[in-house]
Amino acid sequence: VTPSRLAQAVDSQHIFGQVSQELRAVEQSIRHITLPEVSLLAEALMSAVSTPGKLMRPSLVLLSGGATGTIQAAHIEAGAVAELIHLATLLHDDVLDDADLRRGQPTVKAAFGNQIAILSGDYLLAQASLKLSQLNNCRLVSIFSIVLGALCAGEVQQAVTAYNIEASWENYYKKSNGKTAALFAACCEAAAVINQLAEHEVQQHRLYGEKLGLAFQVIDDLLDYTAKQSDFGKPVLDDLKNGLLNAPALLALEYSPNRQGLQELIQRLWKAEGASEDLEALILDQFQSSHAFEKTKQLAENLIQEACDCLSPLPHSPYKTGLQDLAQYVLERSY
Ligand code: FPP
Ligand code: MG
Repeated sequence: VTPSRLAQAVDSQHIFGQVSQELRAVEQSIRHITLPEVSLLAEALMSAVSTPGKLMRPSLVLLSGGATGTIQAAHIEAGAVAELIHLATLLHDDVLDDADLRRGQPTVKAAFGNQIAILSGDYLLAQASLKLSQLNNCRLVSIFSIVLGALCAGEVQQAVTAYNIEASWENYYKKSNGKTAALFAACCEAAAVINQLAEHEVQQHRLYGEKLGLAFQVIDDLLDYTAKQSDFGKPVLDDLKNGLLNAPALLALEYSPNRQGLQELIQRLWKAEGASEDLEALILDQFQSSHAFEKTKQLAENLIQEACDCLSPLPHSPYKTGLQDLAQYVLERSY
């Protein structure tokens, strides 16, 4: 993908040109969910749905819809379901992480408190279920129900290994599959199911989403070190400080000439009393010298290549190109 094609493909909100109209329809569908009468909850929900995200998941459903057949009304609604589920997980996640800032704005947790944030998340899940039921397709209900379980399991998988300096790649892939890749995969699977593809084709397309989701997580991990807080809309170096050995940390430990020394530095960071800017700089130096950031980018590039390989059976179309561009965007996004 040439940079100019990429620039063309992605508009200012990182929305893909081929499906921009359909994305507006997804946004409409989300904005038109039934709001509760109780105004406190309605207000919290309005604030949750009105800060625009990247709309990665609906883009994935729509482009997959076009690439596997035709984009139907069900793709728009499935895109809205995916985004509603995503928004619900963020509302809950900000409670779990005690996070005050997201997308450059105060979180619902910060503005309305934990109780309203959790219940707003639940409410969005209820609205997502309602939309799903209206699609009259039990397979779609299964796909998204399985994702909800995977999201919970991924989050717990992450929690049980937090602050464990021996946390493994196996753990990393399990939690990343659950927290991130499962929903990406579901978006692709759902889109292909709506177009009634043969099961092996559905699974092949699902795999594109899964690999893309893993790459997305790996790049998210990288941005936790390299992005500016003002661009990223959330604090940086957050994962490591919160006890998470993300992809750059695992790679730094794997390739460090002094693994034990780096382990000790990270453990000092985890003891609040040891945290300081000097310590952070020392850790980042070690990451640099083990080329952890380059290796992280390489890992993401490999996953993106594997994702794009899954697209090869699909006939050529602007939507297939869009999926390739989306993969490239995941690799190159800076926030
Ligand atoms: C963001 O993680 C969080 C997720 C991708 C998933 C969170 C899942 C749950 C809270 C459990 C399931 C919830 C529902 C509603 C089914 P992060 O903290 O690594 O990323 P961040 O920096 O964007 O907060
Ligand atoms: Mg979080």
